[in-house]
Amino acid sequence: MQASNIVWHQAKISRQHRESQNSHASVILWFTGLSGAGKSTLAHVVEERLYTMNCRTFVIDGDNVRHGLCADLGFSSQDREENIRRVGEVAKLFTEAGMITLTAFISPFKADRDRVRQLVPTGDFIEVYCQASLDVCEQRDVKGLYKRARAGEIPEFTGISSPYEPPETPEMVIKTGEMPLEDCVNQVIQYLLDRGILPSN
Ligand code: ADX
Repeated sequence: MQASNIVWHQAKISRQHRESQNSHASVILWFTGLSGAGKSTLAHVVEERLYTMNCRTFVIDGDNVRHGLCADLGFSSQDREENIRRVGEVAKLFTEAGMITLTAFISPFKADRDRVRQLVPTGDFIEVYCQASLDVCEQRDVKGLYKRARAGEIPEFTGISSPYEPPETPEMVIKTGEMPLEDCVNQVIQYLLDRGILPSN
């Protein structure tokens, strides 16, 4: 049902106020990739680095969000679409709140990611493709889920029985399957410095 009879309230304190108070721009770093590719790990270590640089940050993590905001959703294509839609809207709010938001979701469908991209001003959605082959993710199998998916115990498992559509033109490709974590973190931070999202001094 569409909401009706509602009027937008214009806040006096804008995103620009918050960004200048923070001394950095607010953006969404959207980490996407297979389960086990290292999205959460990378997002959290990037956040730790940003914290030491006095940045306002927040990580929105797939596994955590599915305990609360998206606890009613499963892994069908429709549910994944709704999962990403909700997270996209939350990330947009965080951007308006002046934060650097780091999201870690498989977000397997290009159309769903592109919809989030369209939600925010051009340049604010930074797609970070955590590239690790299915072989590597399956060998790591940190949560033991690939083994269970192969045994037919988990239906619609990404990479096994449900597709993953890699980004075609992401802002960043991080070879999380091959590179040491520290190098991956440095690549993300360098991108933010090069783009002027973080001050260089
Ligand atoms: S997404 O596809 O909707 O973006 P999301 O990132 O929220 O997925 O959740 C993925 C996590 O849920 C995985 O890291 C894994 O721990 C768990 N999971 C449970 N069932 C599945 C499944 N069928 N496919 C993928 N991940 C699953």
